[in-house]
This record gives sequence, structure tokens and C-alpha cells, in this order.
Amino acid sequence: MKPEQGAHNKMSASAAVAAASSLSPLVGLRAVVSSLVAFFIVVSSVSLLFDRGGQESRVVQLAMDQHRHQEVKMAAAGSGKRQEEECNWSVGRWVYDNASEPLYSGLKCSFIFDEVACEKYGRNDTRYQHWRWQPDGCDLPRFNATRLLEKLRNKRMVFVGDSINRNQWVSMVCMVEAAIPEGLKMRVYNGSLISFKAFEYNATIDFYWSPLILESNSDNPIIHRVEYRIIRAEKIEKHARAWRDADIIVFNSYLWWRKQKPDMKMKVMYGSFEDGDAKLDEVEMVEGFEIALKKLTEWLGTNIDKNKTRIYFAGSSPTHTWASDWGGDDKNKCLNESEPIVKPGYKGATTDYSMMEKAQEIFRPLEEKGIHVQVLNFTQLSDHRIDAHPTVFRRQFVPLTAAQVADPSSYADCTHWCLPGVPDVWNSFLYSYLVHK
Ligand SMILES: *[C@@H]1O[C@H](CO)[C@@H](O)[C@H](O)[C@H]1NC(C)=O
Ligand SMILES: *[C@@H]1O[C@H](CO)[C@@H](O)[C@H](O)[C@H]1NC(C)=O
Ligand SMILES: *[C@@H]1O[C@H](CO)[C@@H](O)[C@H](O)[C@H]1NC(C)=O
Ligand SMILES: *[C@@H]1O[C@H](CO)[C@@H](O)[C@H](O)[C@H]1NC(C)=O
Ligand SMILES: *[C@@H]1O[C@H](CO)[C@@H](O)[C@H](O)[C@H]1NC(C)=O
Ligand SMILES: *[C@@H]1O[C@H](CO)[C@@H](O)[C@H](O)[C@H]1NC(C)=O
Ligand SMILES: *[C@@H]1O[C@H](CO)[C@@H](O)[C@H](O)[C@H]1NC(C)=O
Ligand SMILES: *[C@@H]1O[C@H](CO)[C@@H](O)[C@H](O)[C@H]1NC(C)=O
Ligand SMILES: *[C@@H]1O[C@H](CO)[C@@H](O)[C@H](O)[C@H]1NC(C)=O
Repeated sequence: MKPEQGAHNKMSASAAVAAASSLSPLVGLRAVVSSLVAFFIVVSSVSLLFDRGGQESRVVQLAMDQHRHQEVKMAAAGSGKRQEEECNWSVGRWVYDNASEPLYSGLKCSFIFDEVACEKYGRNDTRYQHWRWQPDGCDLPRFNATRLLEKLRNKRMVFVGDSINRNQWVSMVCMVEAAIPEGLKMRVYNGSLISFKAFEYNATIDFYWSPLILESNSDNPIIHRVEYRIIRAEKIEKHARAWRDADIIVFNSYLWWRKQKPDMKMKVMYGSFEDGDAKLDEVEMVEGFEIALKKLTEWLGTNIDKNKTRIYFAGSSPTHTWASDWGGDDKNKCLNESEPIVKPGYKGATTDYSMMEKAQEIFRPLEEKGIHVQVLNFTQLSDHRIDAHPTVFRRQFVPLTAAQVADPSSYADCTHWCLPGVPDVWNSFLYSYLVHK
């Protein structure tokens, strides 16, 4: 397999190694590890970027409307169930539909992130915004922001994962925010957590940075691009604190487990430095994924109130870094692609469908406890969308220079997704489950 650059292609400003170690929450771990194995932590880029510098540290105290609203009655599940049996949303085709798409304007969404604001940063070909996903045999319920907000009244929904999940979170925020008047919505940054609040509904839609699910040396939401990745096999509680009270959790974990080089391995730490019993293993990346998901499964099994919390696992998000996959030129990556791949059943050679199946397998024992983890299977529909990535039409801290724009092989981002765009469909799946099922 080709090395997967994934979310980690050189696309942004450099940051000093020294800064990484001083900011890392795992300095203790690093200390023990460095005595066991000689290594470098190379932090060559910062891939979590906020639209306005320093905003992440601006923590705002919120005055929430505590009283006025009651729980909305859950809709009867009957008709939704029938629909689920009849129709499989994952199988269908993209239809050009400039009458009903996009669902919002990327130029007007005040909460969009510059890394995915393609139109704002010069992408003039906006056809990518007008494709509607049409499942075979049924229609995906039309997204209705008010209806979703009513569903989220007095609730907290949290997206947990990496920058792809953040992409989905930004999409969700843009999908609902137009339905909320000025002054009744707010975004708050607090370390690894970004919170969006809709005051009238007392509804919260959060994103929590945790790309490897377990505690790891990549937990800093800003400086985390470490090639030498270490997870702590038994440590999930620190992250779980951020989502244990949530009503809806959407996990995502895929790209960070992919090999960026053929010999890339995951380091797994057992025990702890503090207790003096630290032990370091090295496993295949995908085995690390299994370790993390098994620990997550165990945690969910003992901590989740099945009457309260609904859990989703976002499918694998394809990257379109290797244009030769669809007959393009690798040095351009996905730059200038303007149409989806139409071939029915297309699957990209570099997309790993098996990890989603593994995840489903690992979560299966939870069913006995009445906990269902619903996979959002949008992998294949996304695989068709070679036209839908930011490429060079984005900003990270500073705009790309002319020389960078002219060098797509290094600077085109074919991993994240322009908004409005493909993640809106992912959220339509989520919406449909929440509102209709
Ligand atoms: C949907 O269709 C795909 C492809 O045929 C299949 O793998 C998947 O299991 C189906 N899902 C459901 C819920 O039927
Ligand atoms: C929508 O697309 C059709 C066909 O491409 C075109 O004729 C029409 O002008 C477009 N409408 C808008 C509002 O862009
Ligand atoms: C997009 O359109 C604007 C205005 O017509 C033009 O200045 C700019 O060069 C165009 N950008 C690209 C990448 O073609
Ligand atoms: C959206 O949902 C709200 C609340 O359920 C409803 O009043 C409204 O008519 C819906 N809008 C559309 C276009 O269906
Ligand atoms: C507001 O929402 C939170 C969940 O985010 C919930 O814990 C709290 O009870 C809600 N407040 C009211 C008054 O219902
Ligand atoms: C920020 O997060 C920390 C936990 O990480 C929490 O203790 C603190 O109350 C949060 N601050 C605000 C203003 O929400
Ligand atoms: C969950 O709901 C079931 C059925 O309504 C009830 O019997 C059970 O006690 C509830 N469990 C908790 C922890 O509230
Ligand atoms: C992409 O399209 C632009 C505008 O049409 C053109 O100037 C540029 O050469 C194209 N780049 C590639 C790599 O094909
Ligand atoms: C997801 O759907 C695709 C078809 O779109 C199918 O090939 C794949 O097996 C499905 N995976 C899972 C885990 O349901």
C-alpha cells in the first residue's frame, strides 16, 4: 500500500520541538520512553488551526437559560424502523441538484473554520456544493435545523475524535446556526473542547479533540503532529470525563491509525511512569486501533446509561491524495477535480473499509448490555467525491503563498472536506437517526 499522508501532509506553519514537549501533557511519559528507546518527536506542522489566532484560549463564562423549556417528547419509533428495513442509506448515487443544495452558505456561516472555507479562500468552481446524496430506494429525510434543535433541547451532543470529526462538527454547527438568531448562540474554546451553544434550546454541540481515543502523545489540540505515536493502553478516563455526561456521542477514529510509512508502528504503553511499572510495546497501527476500541468498549459497557446516551461511530473518511487511483496525476493530487466519480460502487484503492467492520465487531458485545453503537456508514459515498476537498483554497494561520498554491503535491489538502459539502451528508445520516429512528 502507498504511504498515507492523510491529515498530516505538510500544510502549515512549523512549530518547534521544544514547544511540543513543554506543552505536552505527557512529559512524564516522554521521559520514561526516551530512556527506553531513542527517538525524535518531530512536530513539523500544526494541523489544528483556529480561524482567529488565540481564540482557543478565550474561555467564556456562559449564562444559560435554565428554566423555560421542557423535554421534548421522543418521537414514536415505528415509522422510522420500517424505513430502516426498507432502505440502506449507504448505497446510492450523487445527483446534481442546485435547487436544494447546499443547505447553508459557507460565506455566511460565522462559525466555519478557515481550513474548510473553500469558497471564501478562492475556490470559484462551486459545483461541489450542489450535489445531493440520493440513496437507492428511498430519500434521506430533509435536514430541518429547528427540528434537530428541538431534539437537542436540554441535551449535549459531543463529537469525539480528530480533525475529520472536527470537520463534521463544523458542518453540524453551520447546518443549525442559520436557524438561530444572533445573540442566542455562541462558540467557546476550552483546551481540547470546543463548545457550540444554542441558548434558547439549552442545547450544546461540542467537539472534543482525542484522535487516538486513548490518552496519547497527540492529545494537544494544537501541537500534535507526532510521527512517533504513543498510546496508553489503559488510560481513557481523562478523555472520558469530557463526554461521560453526554446524551449523544459521535466517535471517529481512523486516519491516525493509518501508516504514513510502510514501517510505521504504534507504541503502546502499559502501566505508568508514576507507578514505576511502565512497559512499552510496539504493535502494528491497526492493532493499536483494536486496543483503543476495546478499551472504549469496556468503558462504555460499564459507564454508559443506555436509557440516556445514544452512541455513533463515524465511518472511515477517505482521502484523495493519490490521484492515480482514479486516473489522475499524483503530482496534482485532487486539485481541479470538479466532478464526483460516477462509477457505481467505486471504492478507492487507498480507502480501508475493513477498519469500520473491525470497529463494529469490537462494539458487538455491547449489544448484550442493550447498548447499540450505530456506525454512520458514509465511506463509499465519500469515496466518490474527489472534487470536494479544500486543496489550496483554505487558510491555516496565514494564507498560502503563491508558491505554495502552485505546488499542489505538497500543499493541496485532499483529506478534509470543503463546507458546505460532504460532511453535511454525514450529518444528515446522524440527523435521520436522531429524529426518525
Ligand atoms: C448496506 O449495504 C451495504 C452494501 O451492500 C452492506 O454492506 C451493508 O451491510 C448494508 N447495511 C444494512 C444496514 O443493510
Ligand atoms: C442549476 O443548474 C442548471 C443546470 O446546470 C442551470 O441551468 C441553472 O441555471 C442552475 N441554477 C442556478 C440557480 O444556478
Ligand atoms: C476567482 O475569481 C476571482 C474574481 O473573478 C478572481 O480574481 C480569482 O483569480 C479567481 N480565482 C481562481 C483560483 O481562479
Ligand atoms: C422544521 O421543523 C419545524 C419544527 O418541527 C416545523 O415547524 C417546520 O415546519 C419544519 N420546516 C420544514 C421546512 O419542514
Ligand atoms: C441544560 O442542558 C444540560 C445538558 O447539556 C442539562 O444537564 C441541564 O439539565 C439542562 N438544563 C435544564 C434546565 O434542563
Ligand atoms: C474548562 O475545562 C475544564 C476541564 O478541562 C473545566 O474544569 C473548566 O470548568 C472549563 N471551563 C469552562 C469555563 O467551562
Ligand atoms: C432503563 O429503562 C428501563 C425500561 O424503561 C428501566 O427498567 C430501567 O430501570 C432503566 N435503567 C436506568 C439505569 O434508569
Ligand atoms: C488548475 O486550474 C487552474 C485554473 O483553471 C489552472 O490555472 C491550473 O493550471 C490548473 N492546475 C492543474 C494542476 O491542473
Ligand atoms: C458500508 O457500506 C458500504 C457500501 O456503501 C459497504 O461496502 C460496506 O461493507 C459497509 N460497511 C459497514 C461496516 O457497514
